[in-house]
Amino acid sequence: MKTKFIQLDCNNIDNLKIIEAAEILKQGGLVAFPTETVYGLGADGLNEEASSKIYAAKGRPSDNPLILHISSMKALDALTAGDCTLGRKLAEAFWPGPLTLIFKKSSLVPLTTTGGLDTVAIRMPAHPIAYELIRQAGLYIAAPSANASGRPSPTTAVHVLEDMDGRIDMILDGGSADIGLESTIVDVSAEIPVILRPGYITLEDIIGITGEAEYDKGLFQKPESEDFKPKAPGMKYKHYAPRGQLTIYEGENKAVVRAINQAAEEKLKEGYRVGIIATDETLSSYQKGLIKTIGTRKDEKTIAAGLFKILRDFDGEQADYIYSESFYDNHLGQAIMNRLLKAAGYHIEKV
Ligand code: TXA
Ligand code: MG
Repeated sequence: MKTKFIQLDCNNIDNLKIIEAAEILKQGGLVAFPTETVYGLGADGLNEEASSKIYAAKGRPSDNPLILHISSMKALDALTAGDCTLGRKLAEAFWPGPLTLIFKKSSLVPLTTTGGLDTVAIRMPAHPIAYELIRQAGLYIAAPSANASGRPSPTTAVHVLEDMDGRIDMILDGGSADIGLESTIVDVSAEIPVILRPGYITLEDIIGITGEAEYDKGLFQKPESEDFKPKAPGMKYKHYAPRGQLTIYEGENKAVVRAINQAAEEKLKEGYRVGIIATDETLSSYQKGLIKTIGTRKDEKTIAAGLFKILRDFDGEQADYIYSESFYDNHLGQAIMNRLLKAAGYHIEKV
């Protein structure tokens, strides 16, 4: 299959191109598109044959459910069952935006889309291209992150091309994703909202609307532990893995820099290619290896936005070992470290 690569200007969206992409979706094809979090790989979410193409293109396990992307609140009536008061409160507060809500599903939603679950994940994205595409197609668009299963989520259209060229019908290029981390997932199918995946919308943001909320107990456990049963099936798979072995260093800043320099020196001597994930503040303190900055500690949004890109860049440079500082600061820290720890297979050095 030849993958069409189409560039769009977010401030002046060419409607003919959106119509072409929407036609592909209506006919059961696959179109990757930008959202404010990461790029998504879209298909008609109520068409089982179309959704199963997503699993094939990504190499995704079939028990890992998809998020349905909507452009209007009316979709909630069609897709959900039971009392949705709690979810609607959060939807009204944060949609369109980087929040996915898990509801009891209606009979309209096929089990292929939900990985066999009786719940459905729904999100209204804020990106103008995503919005126009969903509206024009007149469908509920199932869209996981548009990476091959196990690779870092794509934050640019070129990342999507790297993983999906020849496997999907079209890629809409709308520039870099703003946030760079996937949406916060909150289960609202029971009485208390439960965060299944941390993201840009934080626990505190949720509590601010509903008065209470908690993290899923499985969230901060290493997946190998025997009692690991995350509620979001996707959280049990190895994710965001770079090709090299990633180690995260935790501790006081200067000690971390010293330890990373030492580890890098040793591996370089053994003839390996070594990558270092630095920040603008520490860039000049590292001496040898492929040294890249992820962003600045003065603005943690830059670190979130730079994370998946830097992992892909080190893949491109065939780094065998990658050493990273840790980023627990402030409000995005949980979301950033959740992704980084998974990428590292929970490989941490405390110094
Ligand atoms: O920001 C995002 O959410 C991006 C963009 C494209 O919207 N999408 C995304 O999709 O990250 P994906 O498929 O890569 O991650 C969806 C996660 C998976 O971990 C999946 O297991 C979980 O959502 N999920 C989907 N439906 C669920 C359900 N009914 N119950 C629990 N978890 C669910
Ligand atoms: Mg994903």
